[in-house]
Amino acid sequence: MSGEDQQKRKKIIVSGARPSGRLHLGNYLGALKNWVDLQAEYRCYYFIADWHALTTGYTESHEVKENSLEMILDWLSVGLDPERAVLFRQSEVKEHAELFLLLAMITPIAWLERCPTFKEQLRELEGKEINNYGFLGYPLLQAADILAYRADAVPVGEDQLPHLEITREVARRFNHLYGKVLPEPEPLLGKFTLLPGIDSRKMSKSYDNYIALSDPPEVIKKKVSLMITDPQRARRHDPGRPEVCTAYRFQEIFNPPEISRIESACRTAEIGCVQCKELLARKLTEFMAPIHEKRRELEEKPAYLEEILRSGEQTARVHAGATLKAVRGAMGI
Ligand code: TRP
Repeated sequence: MSGEDQQKRKKIIVSGARPSGRLHLGNYLGALKNWVDLQAEYRCYYFIADWHALTTGYTESHEVKENSLEMILDWLSVGLDPERAVLFRQSEVKEHAELFLLLAMITPIAWLERCPTFKEQLRELEGKEINNYGFLGYPLLQAADILAYRADAVPVGEDQLPHLEITREVARRFNHLYGKVLPEPEPLLGKFTLLPGIDSRKMSKSYDNYIALSDPPEVIKKKVSLMITDPQRARRHDPGRPEVCTAYRFQEIFNPPEISRIESACRTAEIGCVQCKELLARKLTEFMAPIHEKRRELEEKPAYLEEILRSGEQTARVHAGATLKAVRGAMGI
């Protein structure tokens, strides 16, 4: 069997992310690592949801292009592989917009208004004028992203399940009205690790408590030194409680071979927080070294980056184009 035939038999997955600029370790362990691993088994379509960024960020539209390029640099640096996955920008594949428009004709407004993420965001971003048509349509655009590739499955976090449910409902409605064209995709909830930020809350760009994948060693060291440890361990010779310590949580993830030694040395005050953090900073720097090297390589070849995207976009257009042809055909337009 040729390589191409094998590719054809693989199940198709589609996933996207809004361009948030440089990614952090939380993004990596929370989603991206899973995407990298899935490349072995699936035909993967991974895209930058740059139109989705505009639904809440339309006043910052001029930042989208730069953020998209930063994000794709991080994607490639951690091992998304253009030989194995189709990588592209949503806005370069206009078929997403056409399918969004056609699906809009058959989607009851109530399905969108009752979506929990819609209600939650309206509450959370109170004061920001986002009660717009485009924002209401966010899950429908996502449905178009997925259905354009007739995906078998969608790797997402739990927060995205309502959007996947709308996708399935819209596909069912389309098939009911026009004949079976759009398969209902399954969610693929992967293994992921929830990483705390240096202040022990969830690692997040908006809390400014993150370690970026592109942070240089000095910055890693500085941020690790600021990590919250056991607040009751005021002096060097007080025993520590690893279970409440953010640095220890990182040691568990990034330094498993030494973890039992670190645990007992902390409990007996054999090592202090400064020492423990120095070790952790070294481990994180080691972990990031190949990622940084790849990023440096890519930063020197902007034309190559552009070429990867162009080629991914061309492949995506062919695939989505075939779906749109089937969709128009079923509708008789
Ligand atoms: N809404 C997703 C998020 O915020 C991003 C997204 C847009 C997406 N289109 C998609 C995810 C299609 C999966 C499939 O993370």
